Amino acid sequence: MDPVHNPFAPGAGSQPPQLAGRQAIIDEAGVAIQRALLYKSTRPQLFLGLRGVGKTVLLNKIQEMAEQAGHLVSFVEAPENRSLGELLMPKIDQLLHKLSVTASAKAKVYSALRALRSFGSAFKLTYGDVSLSVEAEPGVADSGNLENDLSELFVQVGEAAKAAGRGWTLLIDEVQYLKPVDLAALIVALHKINQKRLPVLFFGAGLPQVAALSGDAKSYAERLFLYPVVGPLEVADAKMAIRHPVNEEGATISEQALDEIIDKTHCYPYFLQEWGHQCWNIAQAGKIDLADAKNAALRATKRLDEGFFKVRFERLTPKEREYVIAMAKLGAGPYRSSDIADALGETSQSLGPRRAQIINKGMIYSPSHGDIAFTVAMFDEYLMRNFVKKDDGSSSA
Ligand SMILES: Nc1ncnc2c1ncn2[C@@H]1O[C@H](COP(=O)(O)OP(=O)(O)OP(=O)(O)O)[C@@H](O)[C@H]1O
Ligand SMILES: [Mg+2]
Repeated sequence: MDPVHNPFAPGAGSQPPQLAGRQAIIDEAGVAIQRALLYKSTRPQLFLGLRGVGKTVLLNKIQEMAEQAGHLVSFVEAPENRSLGELLMPKIDQLLHKLSVTASAKAKVYSALRALRSFGSAFKLTYGDVSLSVEAEPGVADSGNLENDLSELFVQVGEAAKAAGRGWTLLIDEVQYLKPVDLAALIVALHKINQKRLPVLFFGAGLPQVAALSGDAKSYAERLFLYPVVGPLEVADAKMAIRHPVNEEGATISEQALDEIIDKTHCYPYFLQEWGHQCWNIAQAGKIDLADAKNAALRATKRLDEGFFKVRFERLTPKEREYVIAMAKLGAGPYRSSDIADALGETSQSLGPRRAQIINKGMIYSPSHGDIAFTVAMFDEYLMRNFVKKDDGSSSA
């Protein structure tokens, strides 16, 4: 069918035509947004899930909802090699300038800007495009202890937002890449805000290991955060994610075609978009049938192998690749670390650093002690398809 009208949206953070199966999470976020504006306590939330399940899309949706409700929103993606402070400085600066237009907030905004300047000086943060034209406020957010100083800064920002009658929603994506000191400081600051009933709301998203990372950073994190699990969709929702956009464009899809898509994608959102996209382009005359869905599998798999899977695999060193291929050869995960060590003829201890590096790169995680799993669904199948010789000698990179 006409690719110009293809409704599907495979891609990182791309808004899907139908945000299926996430209503409970969205409703709960909606309640938190409203509660924050009434200065009622709200728990910060961390969305946890594998690659491509729709975490970023949820943060985008929450941004839209929060803005509509009167919050100002700062959205940052944790980088692998910059500090949280560096990342937040320009965002908080922008936020405070937006708040400063409200007369009732001027004094609080001014204090918060001075605290921001102190914070920047204390941590020698380069201001970049920050336009700080105020003096630092000695004694505020400048002790050099990140946990204290970030908390003081957040409180000042929260008070400025309150004085302006607005909320502040902070969204942080890829939380697993925050350095442990930054994560600890973030948790302490959110805890502080929570106690003070300031109109500040936090939603983060990251890979499943974020639960353990936040617990390691601060033991009370487990009680502070809500951890909604963002997983594959329920079958009915996955079907809806495909059928609804097709129908909206005036086309139809057969039940057998839908079953085939469910079978191949295991209801993972990214894969559903990829399959939907290919089915649409292959089908003729307004109807997607089983044959189209089967053909789509070939194209979708090829696209994933050349994009989604490949970009992740290429971030690994040759030794790290050897490790993940050994995992894949053991079948579908999770895997015992000791089994991988056996397969490689090494000990778990000697492989520890390699394993830790692959975890840091966000490729694998430990679902429970001694176990390891891929953060990308069906990655084992990708590796087997592309890097492991079959008995007949085919299919090896
Ligand atoms: N609820 C949903 N229904 C249908 N499609 C969805 C849904 N959520 C996400 N998608 C689609 O899945 C793909 C991946 O979404 P997104 O980038 O938000 O995932 P992610 O969890 O942030 O992945 P990563 O960990 O790689 O950043 C996008 O193409 C998006 O359109
Ligand atoms: Mg994402």
